[in-house]
Amino acid sequence: MKVPENQLIVIFGASGDLTKRKLIPALFALFRKKLLPGHFAILGIGRTVLSSEQFREKLFARPDSGSEDDPETSGEKKIFAGLLHYLSIGNYDPASYSLIREKISDLEKTYKTGGNCIFYLATPPGLYEMITRGLHIQGLSKQEKGWRRIIVEKPFGTSLESAIKLNKHLLDCFSEEQLYRIDHYLGKETVQNVMVTRFSNGIFEPLWNRNYVHHVEITAAENTGVEGRGGYYDKVGALRDMVQNHLLQLVTLVAMEPPTMIQSLAIRNEVLKVLQSVRPINITEIDKQVIRGQYTGSTVRGTRYRSFREEPGISPQSRTETYVALKLFIDNWRWGGVPFYIRTGKCLPTRVTELVIHFKPTPHRLFCFDEGRFNSDNQLVIRIQPDEGILLKFGMKLPGAGYKVQDVNMDFHYADISHAELPEAYQRLLLDCMQGDPTLFSRGDAIEQSWRIVDPVLNTWENNPAIPIYGYPVGTWGPHEADSLIDEPNMTWRYPCRNLSDDGIYCEL
Ligand code: BG6
Repeated sequence: MKVPENQLIVIFGASGDLTKRKLIPALFALFRKKLLPGHFAILGIGRTVLSSEQFREKLFARPDSGSEDDPETSGEKKIFAGLLHYLSIGNYDPASYSLIREKISDLEKTYKTGGNCIFYLATPPGLYEMITRGLHIQGLSKQEKGWRRIIVEKPFGTSLESAIKLNKHLLDCFSEEQLYRIDHYLGKETVQNVMVTRFSNGIFEPLWNRNYVHHVEITAAENTGVEGRGGYYDKVGALRDMVQNHLLQLVTLVAMEPPTMIQSLAIRNEVLKVLQSVRPINITEIDKQVIRGQYTGSTVRGTRYRSFREEPGISPQSRTETYVALKLFIDNWRWGGVPFYIRTGKCLPTRVTELVIHFKPTPHRLFCFDEGRFNSDNQLVIRIQPDEGILLKFGMKLPGAGYKVQDVNMDFHYADISHAELPEAYQRLLLDCMQGDPTLFSRGDAIEQSWRIVDPVLNTWENNPAIPIYGYPVGTWGPHEADSLIDEPNMTWRYPCRNLSDDGIYCEL
């Protein structure tokens, strides 16, 4: 793999959680794989007062914080830690940016990074405008000696209006080519594999359309709650936190047309076309397309779990959704009339993300299946996490007299490829940005388009408090009312389990 050009990475919000949990471990993993350039350094910037030495100690305080695969890497850690520097600044106020400019200039000289620099915004989003303006005023967005890029973390806005405003502001300071808007789902190996599965196999692509697909189901379930992020989550909710970005990205990968080539512009154009084709949700009958829920307390196997409203940082009257299920249609030639059911939730029975293509039944029914069904429930399951892999379900004759038929699974697990290591999403995304490849980052127009899909729902909820938010006990598959979105007899959501080949209502509790 090509090693990126010499460069400096400047992380804003360096004393925060994301830097410690994701960014530094990802950079350290790249260092261990010898994928960092020869002339390289990291400058952390934060409000917490720390020396560079204290910053290094903070990041490597726990033995496992430096590497996912080998905690005993002290020699490498020492060398890597030497590349880390820290600058504490008051309040990201205008006066800070001349200090930042001077520090960058010192490090560029010391490490001979050639003027190439990535700025990573890992701060609360409220600071994005102030930081980028400060960088711009100090001339730090100009690409004179080398290139300058900026990575913007999610959430990208809280509504269509705020996303447009943020895009506009960023484009006043940087050009679109310099902007890398991160959606960590796109960095997941198995998410990228959706394109390979579709476009490198002659057997799937001919079936991938309204003639053969009955419906598509996308689930991103989590079995944890808000995990100390109550203050943030209560203002955001599942639709903004997971659907506007991650789930709609998954929809685009399932639904997009083959790009003319595996090249950033071609892929991102196809992504945008899908989002533009999503039929606006009919808000006058919102309950037929969107169901929201919030977890309530429950006791699972003798352990009591608290409700969302009992979590720290959450208002006891909160009406924030921790679960949302939607039925969408994509009005284009390929997908006309095929429903896309998508759902996500916290405190569900298991942690699983998967895409399921449900195929249409055979036109003529010859065999009798279990439970009186007459057709195989043909599904192609693309498992994003955990137990990453692919599974195909189809009907088989049971041995013996007559034609008793049952569904069986044919499955492939990534874990079975012995040499396969699935790198953490941030590793891939950081490396791509360091190499100047924006393919797996969201383009401004696509982000705005995805807000156009969810914004009417958010506004309708806000203006109509009578629209129900259904309770569901911790450890269940969300409110029963979500079943009504699938208005076909004998059809339900899938109930996946931790293992790709298992499914069933409560198999993971
Ligand atoms: C984040 C959300 O973007 O994605 C979190 O803010 C969520 O609430 C997380 O838990 C899920 O990511 P993953 O990679 O664990 O599926």
